[in-house]
Amino acid sequence: MVFVQHEKMNTDDMLQGHLQLYHHLLSYIKSMALKCATELGIPAALHRRGGAATLADIATEISLHQAKLPHLRRLMRVLTVSGIFAIAQEHPSSSSTGNGEIVYTLTAASRLLAAGEHDMSPMLRFLVHPTALTPFFSLHAWFRAHDDDDAGNSGGGAAAARSLFEMAHGFPRWEMTGRDAAYGAVLSDAMAADSRFVMEVVMREAGGDVFGGIGSLVDVGGGHGAAAAAVAKAFPHVKCSVLDLPHVVSQAPAAGDRGNVEFMAGDMFEFVPPADAVLLKYVLHCFGDDDCIKILRRCMEAIPTRDAGGKVKIVNMVVGSGSQENIFKETQALFDLYMTYIDGVEREEKEWEKIFFKAGFSAYKIMPILGFLSVIEVYP
Ligand SMILES: C[S@@+](CC[C@H](N)C(=O)[O-])C[C@H]1O[C@@H](n2cnc3c(N)ncnc32)[C@H](O)[C@@H]1O
Repeated sequence: MVFVQHEKMNTDDMLQGHLQLYHHLLSYIKSMALKCATELGIPAALHRRGGAATLADIATEISLHQAKLPHLRRLMRVLTVSGIFAIAQEHPSSSSTGNGEIVYTLTAASRLLAAGEHDMSPMLRFLVHPTALTPFFSLHAWFRAHDDDDAGNSGGGAAAARSLFEMAHGFPRWEMTGRDAAYGAVLSDAMAADSRFVMEVVMREAGGDVFGGIGSLVDVGGGHGAAAAAVAKAFPHVKCSVLDLPHVVSQAPAAGDRGNVEFMAGDMFEFVPPADAVLLKYVLHCFGDDDCIKILRRCMEAIPTRDAGGKVKIVNMVVGSGSQENIFKETQALFDLYMTYIDGVEREEKEWEKIFFKAGFSAYKIMPILGFLSVIEVYP
């Protein structure tokens, strides 16, 4: 519906707008409630109780004082109406203030936070970490900043515009992970958890297609090697290695705990070690087009010709691909705007195509096997 400014709004429209505004403005409460529940150990508590528990059971499991029970109920109500937990049964005597026996259960989302085999709680800790959140208070100032004024923070002169992250923290993100070891560890743990999850789905759905037929793989920007370790485990004949920045490689798991994976410290803008295939998981969305083209050119130099099996495998989002359900479209749009904090971007197919061809590649194939993410194979 299009509103004409001078027309008086009817009451229904006013109230609908009012509702939508509050719903939107309070959305951060969902993230904070989820962070709180995970830090209190509620998904894990439900898991220990076989996936279903009353409020009193949960309070016992997480050693919460009785006085906080009514507040726990409010927390669970938010997370239940938003689909993180579900209600299996509700005794007729229960009410919003009573002590009825509501039985809460895990959903697919909260099972991923229940400290089990697909534990995504390190990703939660990263996405709602204050270091990640605070830059967004300056998003409007970043929009107004230009190369030569940078919101008044560059000290004048024609300094390159700083990312939102740098405006907030004073350092680019990759420098910050070296300076602040605790934040670096939060990022590395989140990426490792995500890699274990993503690689399990890739292996189940298309492992042979994606990783069969190669003798060696280098995971560029591979962090602490969780993705490479998954490939090495599933395909023991594939020689797997990781290239990452020196301060990341220096914190990688010790030799006995890293699977059959070799680590190399280096700069992917300078050199990518030779291999049959290069993996770039969650790397290119951290950079603008020109930097992506530079990285892809280094990858092209590292792999054999297409006839000899050379390829680059990218795990990232293809905006607009996959389901057209609103939750997909909204998650992709949110992720894209989130990536502005480090001058990153999520790309539509035609934007990917442009950088692949500019880097000298001849063809690509999108494999939409990862929900709102995809695997893209790019050929020399
Ligand atoms: C978002 S993380 C992705 C990590 C891993 N691929 C994953 O998905 O779990 C991006 C990685 O790129 C690495 N990186 C950034 N700049 C780099 C550079 N110039 N050379 C090599 N690695 C770099 C970071 O240290 C980080 O580990």
